[in-house]
Amino acid sequence: MINLQIPHATTIRALRARVKSWREAGETVGFVPTMGALHDGHLALVRLARAHCDRVVTSIFVNPAQFGQGEDLATYPRDGVEDASKLAKERCDLIYVPDREIMYPDHYTTMLTLEGPALGLESDFRPHFFGGVATVVAKLFNQVRPDVAVFGEKDYQQLLVIRQMVKDLDFDLDIIAGETIREADGLAMSSRNAYLNDDQRQRAGKLNEILKSFGGALHSGADLTEAQAMAMTAAQDVFDGVDYVQARCATTLQSFDAGKVTGPARVLAAVRLGDARLIDNCAVPAS
Ligand code: PAF
Repeated sequence: MINLQIPHATTIRALRARVKSWREAGETVGFVPTMGALHDGHLALVRLARAHCDRVVTSIFVNPAQFGQGEDLATYPRDGVEDASKLAKERCDLIYVPDREIMYPDHYTTMLTLEGPALGLESDFRPHFFGGVATVVAKLFNQVRPDVAVFGEKDYQQLLVIRQMVKDLDFDLDIIAGETIREADGLAMSSRNAYLNDDQRQRAGKLNEILKSFGGALHSGADLTEAQAMAMTAAQDVFDGVDYVQARCATTLQSFDAGKVTGPARVLAAVRLGDARLIDNCAVPAS
């Protein structure tokens, strides 16, 4: 029988007391930051953290700083009871659920600004996003002080932004990437998939197909500008809007010059279906 009881911490003091007791016992700590509404993609990250560490902390905090005006902060799916039961089944050791007052008390003023991998792609459409993500993740790292933190490749630009932040700000922890977990038709799992109606859900699976065939064309030596234009047209045929479909350097996210892929590449896209905005990416297989 599975024990669905799982310790929660709602304050930094309680979190640190628990982590300190593990450290005193010589145990290592893995950390999975989330905004809740957990799906199998999140749970795979928890398992990955568990594979690297003795203890796992998962945080649940819907971070207002990464939502812009008119975005879905108020409606973002929340289900704390269901999340706790899923995390208990994964033998997560502690759920950290700070509230807004803990993360951003009155007179809070500090926000990170980022360049490098944060420039372009998501930032062109959600300029506030990476500042909000990096700020909350930096705070969470300082609160939890893990040995390892796990982020999904589904949010590939976010993953690179966090890696760069860890390097630039000298955080003493390792970032581990978890592969994207997909539905049977290739749709990347995301809490926001809950916004899709039946028709939109059917169309959503095409995003991965489009990216795979874009990546496949580049792998076979297709001209980058032509392959990108074809992928854009295919996406425009299926989705209500397309923010971007692009190939970028897999390590820096910089654009390739002169219509030619040189070195490891990643294809990335963001599209709109009704109220939902889907993002996805995949590696371009090496030629
Ligand atoms: O990927 C997410 O769910 C969020 O951006 C994160 C990393 C938990 C920060 O709020």
